[in-house]
Amino acid sequence: MTAEKLKELIAEMTLEEKASICSGADFWHTEAVERLGIPASMVSDGPHGLRKQDDKADHLGVNESIKAVCFPAGCGTAASFNRELLTEMGKVLGNECQAEGISVILGPAVNIKRSPLCGRNFEYYSEDPVLASQIAGALIKGIQSKNVGTSIKHFLANNQETRRMSVSAEIGERTLREIYLAAFEGAVREQKPWTVMCSYNRINGVYAAENKKYLTDVLRDEWGFDGYVMSDWGAVNNRVADLQAGLELEMPSSGGSNDRLIVEAVKNGTLEESVLDRAVERILNIVYRYEENRDASAVFDRDKDHEAARKVAEETIVLLKNDGILPLQEGKKVAFIGKYAKTPRYQGGGSSHINSHKVTSAMDMAAGNPAISYAQGFCDEEDKIDQRLMEEAVECARQAEAAVIFAGLPDAFESEGFDREHMRMPECQNELIRQVAGVQPNVVVVLHNGSPVEMPWIDSVKGVIEAYLGGQAVGGAEYDILFGKVNPSAKLPETFPLKLEDNPSYLNFPGEGNTVEYKEGIFVGYRYYDKKKMDVLFPFGHGLSYTEYTYSNLQVSAEKLKDTDSLTVSVDVTNSGDMAGKEVVQLYVEDKVSSVIRPVKELKDFAKVELQPKETKTVTFKLSKRAFAYYNTQIGDWHVESGEFDIMIGKSSRDIVLTKTITVESTVELPVVYTADSIMEDVFKNPKAKEIVMKVMEGSASFLPQEGGEGSSGAEAISMEMQEAMMRYMPLRGAVGFGSATMEDVQALVDKLNAL
Ligand code: BGC
Repeated sequence: MTAEKLKELIAEMTLEEKASICSGADFWHTEAVERLGIPASMVSDGPHGLRKQDDKADHLGVNESIKAVCFPAGCGTAASFNRELLTEMGKVLGNECQAEGISVILGPAVNIKRSPLCGRNFEYYSEDPVLASQIAGALIKGIQSKNVGTSIKHFLANNQETRRMSVSAEIGERTLREIYLAAFEGAVREQKPWTVMCSYNRINGVYAAENKKYLTDVLRDEWGFDGYVMSDWGAVNNRVADLQAGLELEMPSSGGSNDRLIVEAVKNGTLEESVLDRAVERILNIVYRYEENRDASAVFDRDKDHEAARKVAEETIVLLKNDGILPLQEGKKVAFIGKYAKTPRYQGGGSSHINSHKVTSAMDMAAGNPAISYAQGFCDEEDKIDQRLMEEAVECARQAEAAVIFAGLPDAFESEGFDREHMRMPECQNELIRQVAGVQPNVVVVLHNGSPVEMPWIDSVKGVIEAYLGGQAVGGAEYDILFGKVNPSAKLPETFPLKLEDNPSYLNFPGEGNTVEYKEGIFVGYRYYDKKKMDVLFPFGHGLSYTEYTYSNLQVSAEKLKDTDSLTVSVDVTNSGDMAGKEVVQLYVEDKVSSVIRPVKELKDFAKVELQPKETKTVTFKLSKRAFAYYNTQIGDWHVESGEFDIMIGKSSRDIVLTKTITVESTVELPVVYTADSIMEDVFKNPKAKEIVMKVMEGSASFLPQEGGEGSSGAEAISMEMQEAMMRYMPLRGAVGFGSATMEDVQALVDKLNAL
């Protein structure tokens, strides 16, 4: 519908009808206005499959939804580092939505993984904002190409489940910009999601739902968002204030009570009707965008989509460790041990829970293969060793030539609604791995979990595969990777620390009472571990392959550039092994000398390339100002400090293979404001300012460095350099104390400097 037509329609609506559009008709539908032919529109969770509830509705995944296809969860899809794959997955989801009459699928969820303990980490993508935003953007692109909307969520700083509906995340502006907002920014700017879902929590004291700064000033005015913002389910706190801040749609229904508040507010003049009209226009614009682009031919072919889910799973499984044991040889006697070999844990709990139409396990794949035996090994209902299952498993492993243990976190360990309390796997599983490794030298552990775990047994096994929560087709992908039909190509989208206490948020997660302070600032994930030079279990970006990749010929389009220029970086990647595969090329940037505290390196771009044995491809990246900038709160903008930067190409964040140093020159001079508190070191950065100050100070024998020391401190042991060093931190007002100037003189000096 054209903007003009929409405006005409809104002009025909009563105040009550307009208010009703701003909240759900029920749990999953927007409100219709039959009198004017305005249709209701259905939304549904998301994001790694459809949770369309036909019957009893809820937002915690308690009641059944229609049979659908569960794709790998966010933790895994991010590990693919493959934008095209995510776009293809999005197309499948978009088509399913068209077939099922869903106008908006509620996702992707891009919140940064601040702590490994966040209960929803399995839904989220990464500890790195570039990766999170790019993966989200790729999914959005695919879904929206089918004329179905997305709802990037949960905006903003919903990085824990503890007290999620009341907690205030206390975060500095630079950290918000560089980490937490950045996870949304790229996807919003580049892929224009139709909707955004605001989170439950508060940001620096203000509820996300009524946070004008982020909902309007940043999201719309800076990033150009033009869809509608909906609340998370029940996140509305103060309906009228929320509407004014930029929250258009309240979900689900408030039973009409909040609509009445809107009507009253317009009537008593506390809410301008134009604000309401604008919100209605934004909501209906999306309602009609979907309605007018319905695809009557769309069919939800579950079996076909299951195969698509399998393809995605193949690229979301990370090979963490391989001491030459993998791939397994077909025909070898292999013991499949562990409950998750038969009933894999492939998704998390809560609103993203999909009612899978079928599930493929690794044991399903092994059907009819006499070389594969099975023992359950553990129960996951409670963390208790079952002696009989343990003995059976040990015996099964003893009789085989290799054992693959399918372990991981049980459902009860991670879910929406609560955070994990520790980073350990159930002790009964750790003990099973130890005992099996005691009798069988060839052990591979396949993990099913949505977030890092500690691995106390790491040295006693030869292989570790992180299958994350790989969706309903995970068994097929696991089996093919174990036996080398598929070459693993995923990389960790997060660091696996050695232990929970190493994590930068450890001392401040989940906070005190209703406040959580993000005291680690921008040092989230690898930004922290690298800065602290800490050992980790597996670094960000790590993932092995069955082939070898070599890198050469790193080229940059310029060795010197201005911050307004862009830089083209290219590198050759060769598959020097014998098996075809896909490699993730990671580009990191380091600001070599900086006056602000910055991470050692930051991921700025990545690409995935498919290479046949002995094939070489050139991968090209384009970097712009943002790749070199930090967020400067003084100017409220991104700023590049002139100087040298390293462009690094890595196989992981800890395996940098090629580096080139370039120089970037800033075109922006930061404003300098002098005060009486300005210290000499800062003032002397400007030679003109130095000259002026030195002149004023000349009168003060005790103030300025004196050769020979006479007239100064008198201590012969103090050299010129020492005196200068001591003076470095002296404020301008210090001149008063040394008798060379009055406070008025200092103020006059400050004025003179500011006029420079
Ligand atoms: C979750 C959202 C979800 C919504 C609807 C909320 O509890 O936080 O992610 O989309 O429920 O189920």
